[in-house]
Amino acid sequence: MANENIKESGSKKRGVEHNWYDTWLPTKKFIENKKCLDFGIWKGLLNARARKELNCDTIIGIEWDDQHRLDCKKINKNIKLYKSIEDLEHKIQVDVIFMHGVICLLGQNWTSTLEKLLQKVSSEILHIRHKEFTHNEHCSGVGREANSYNLNDYNFSPSKQELINFLEAHNYNNIYFNQKLLLFRRNENQHQ
Ligand SMILES: C[S@@+](CC[C@H](N)C(=O)[O-])C[C@H]1O[C@@H](n2cnc3c(N)ncnc32)[C@H](O)[C@@H]1O
Repeated sequence: MANENIKESGSKKRGVEHNWYDTWLPTKKFIENKKCLDFGIWKGLLNARARKELNCDTIIGIEWDDQHRLDCKKINKNIKLYKSIEDLEHKIQVDVIFMHGVICLLGQNWTSTLEKLLQKVSSEILHIRHKEFTHNEHCSGVGREANSYNLNDYNFSPSKQELINFLEAHNYNNIYFNQKLLLFRRNENQHQ
């Protein structure tokens, strides 16, 4: 597993903004001028910023929560928003799929959901923000923790290694990871 050379910022910013400095900006070379799909886009605040500052064009967002989708649309007029992967009309091709803090919200369904996503969406890069939870860590189920499975905890959230093993079995090589971020590149021999 090669850890690509990515300069980390070590930002002390609070709230959502720290994600800009911790997970978007350090990976600029992978996302600048790229077409992207964001699974679990939330209100799309950082997608709007990335469009302005990096010409990073999120063209599709998938967001389960109705209010989040409405709020997202207000500041991202050009993003096509869907409630679920099943609602995508046909196979989509993008450069990057973002999955930021969403895999932990899929409970036991994380493998089947990722399989569905990768069948529907072809992408060279997977850009994942994911942390490991200790046992019985509580999930509120509201706001950024809204989820379609009424989860009360993160007990089924995969470890980083489980995620790496799963995606490597689906033809994605892990090219970078740190405490928060995992990047994968599709195996070049795999044409989808
Ligand atoms: C931590 S937030 C993502 C934040 C945002 N993308 C960012 O970069 O800061 C996770 C989002 O995933 C959404 N979500 C949870 N389960 C989902 C599902 N099954 N399908 C689509 N979106 C889901 C939540 O509603 C929430 O908006």
